[in-house]
Amino acid sequence: MSERENWSGRATFIMAAIGSAIGFGNLWRFPFVCAKNGGGAFLIPYFVALISAGIPIMIIEYYLGIRNRASAPFSLGQIKPIFKIVGWLSVMGAFTLNLFYNAIMGWSFVHLFKFTTVTKWAADIKTAEGHFFGEILGVPATQGNPWNFVGIQWPLLIGLLVSWFIIWWIVKGGLDRVGKVLLYTVPLPVIFVIIMVIRGITLPGAATGLNYYLTPEWGKLLEGKVWLAAYGQIFFSLSICLSTLIAYASFMPRDTEIPNSAAITSFCNCAFSFLAGFAVFSVLGFFAVGLNVPITEVAKAGPGLTFVAYPAAMVQLPFGVMFFAFMFYLTLILLGIDSAFSLLEPVVAVIRDKFGWTRFKATTAVSVVSVLLGIPFVTKAGLLWLDIVDHFAINYILVIAGIFECIAIAYFLGADKMIKEVNKNAEFQLGKLFKLCIAFLAPAILIVIVIKSIIEEIQSPYEGYPVSALLVIGLGSFVACLIGAIVLSKIKSAKELEIPDAG
Ligand code: PHE
Repeated sequence: MSERENWSGRATFIMAAIGSAIGFGNLWRFPFVCAKNGGGAFLIPYFVALISAGIPIMIIEYYLGIRNRASAPFSLGQIKPIFKIVGWLSVMGAFTLNLFYNAIMGWSFVHLFKFTTVTKWAADIKTAEGHFFGEILGVPATQGNPWNFVGIQWPLLIGLLVSWFIIWWIVKGGLDRVGKVLLYTVPLPVIFVIIMVIRGITLPGAATGLNYYLTPEWGKLLEGKVWLAAYGQIFFSLSICLSTLIAYASFMPRDTEIPNSAAITSFCNCAFSFLAGFAVFSVLGFFAVGLNVPITEVAKAGPGLTFVAYPAAMVQLPFGVMFFAFMFYLTLILLGIDSAFSLLEPVVAVIRDKFGWTRFKATTAVSVVSVLLGIPFVTKAGLLWLDIVDHFAINYILVIAGIFECIAIAYFLGADKMIKEVNKNAEFQLGKLFKLCIAFLAPAILIVIVIKSIIEEIQSPYEGYPVSALLVIGLGSFVACLIGAIVLSKIKSAKELEIPDAG
């Protein structure tokens, strides 16, 4: 069997993990999730989620990958064969998320190509709204019904193809190429966002936006929803539970330092999110004050924030409108690319571990299948599909995989055994707090979240979509992932990776 590839060093590995973590989740999702769920007060559940589940699970994933030098199903299956299913489920989750992550990349490409006419299509909020939802996505034609396909949005399909071509090219080039690309895709967006923050906070009205972003609404801390949003945001943002970090860690030697590597990854990710909030809300504040409307008017949640309100606000800048528009969409693309290939890599890694395919063959096969399955997301109903699949398949897979990873380590492998092994090379020692989190806190909180969410699902159909769509697209995509996971964990392959007992 050929030798497993390696990252060129710990710095590259950590940078890859940071690149994966920092993505649309930070610039697009974090600011509005934070503003909607209590502003400054949201930072409390956010940090509780980070400490009680985010970092501990990241440590588990680094450990699993490094200890077994194998992708998620094999690493988890090493503890007990039944946990292979959890590993495969997380791989299926990565595969599914990437179908529409690249569609969002496609939106960004389309906007980037139109940056010179931004003053036309984002002249004001109404125009920008019509442009994004109407012209680009074509949603109105579906009248909110995911079954009304109506047709493909061709520019989005081209955007999807461009995005897949890029990440196919990067991943097929192996870890060396990935390492080189990361040297650009990680630092550049950070620099760009710092420029946006400086531009933003020096605008009149910025304080109004920042107040909206950060003023604590303490009452919100009593709402279960807010805690759920915090855990969801942490999981998605840190790239845990979707097999990415296990695959990335599997390319590191067995004596790699773990706890501090996880702490660095998490800190960089969360700090970047916090910073991105300043870039977004300062500009929105300037916009709202200029228009003399309440900030809530312009800061409506969801995709609209980045693709509607933000460009409309940018158009009002005193100078450099096109420059900022170009930089903004380029930033989104650079942020998204390393997250998108970090979703492709674990799928490629697992196919290679399972069937012994070459990197080229595995990457090409996964990319071609993904483009085909991604087509619904670039139809006029694409946004609706994206919303439903994200809500049902991705959210639940994240949390379920998290629960079982904790259980596998705490109750089957033994938390003490893991702690002892990790502490041999650790820059800070794991102890009782870590054990408390993975054996009790994290799984207990996550189980409550799952149960509560399922009850809500039954009580009121998500976002008022037709029940048939929720069942077929939502529940259907989850069940498809689960069946895929069970089947893949059962079938045998002659070339399957054998893991020596790591002991
Ligand atoms: N963390 C990425 C983001 O914030 C998304 C992602 C999740 C990427 C899981 C890889 C794995 O956009």
